[in-house]
Amino acid sequence: MTPGTVIAVDGPAAAGKGTLARRLAAALGLPYLDTGLLYRAVGRRVLDAGADPRDARQAEEAARSLSPADLERDDLRGPMADMAASAVAAIPAVRAALLDFQRGFGRERGAVLDGRDIGTVVFPDAAVKLFVTASVEERARRRFLELQGRGVAADPAQVEAEIRDRDAQDANRPVAPLRPADDAVVLDTTVLDAEAAFVAAIDLVKARLGRAAI
Ligand code: CDP
Ligand code: CDP
Repeated sequence: MTPGTVIAVDGPAAAGKGTLARRLAAALGLPYLDTGLLYRAVGRRVLDAGADPRDARQAEEAARSLSPADLERDDLRGPMADMAASAVAAIPAVRAALLDFQRGFGRERGAVLDGRDIGTVVFPDAAVKLFVTASVEERARRRFLELQGRGVAADPAQVEAEIRDRDAQDANRPVAPLRPADDAVVLDTTVLDAEAAFVAAIDLVKARLGRAAI
């Protein structure tokens, strides 16, 4: 793999971005960053302070003082954390505060990063851009199964409604909205399991970078 190679994996909620990005990183020997965790940690800190995650001043302050320990918390997933992350992610000052860290992470040794705006904003020159998606029903089914696996009680209809709301919020915000970059390859995994999605993605990476580069 050429040093400094960046692979962007974007897409809507529960599409399998993280699962795929982690596997790609391991296969290619690249570091991996889950950028959603940054927004989740900011949202959680604002909630902890008893503030509204839409409060721009509080959210910016939380983003500026984020520490590695904030990313290790075990309460960054679940409906409250999901919506708080999406709320703080719509605030331009929060996104600006997190940009340098994401770029610094990828710049030196290259990386696979997953999120919403990696191919459009964070690394517009990424060597490979994947936009991973699946039908909203299938994504809701995956998230429901994940919650069940963690022993979290959930209602399937509510999980789907939450995913629809969050995707709408992420896609309709003025700053860094969820959308495929013009040069992204869209990978629809509705009928692909995680293994098949990985095989399809690694083929795309090889086609883009040339087999010799890997
Ligand atoms: O990061 P994102 O929210 O997009 O998804 P994830 O955390 O990777 O979770 C996706 C879930 O769906 C995991 O439980 C995967 O095992 C499963 N899955 C997948 O990742 N890819 C598929 N093509 C099919 C299922
Ligand atoms: O795993 P899932 O797809 O459910 O969410 P995530 O990737 O952890 O992201 C949580 C929230 O953070 C998203 O709904 C977005 O609002 C925000 N986010 C973002 O705006 N930009 C990113 N690069 C990553 C996440």
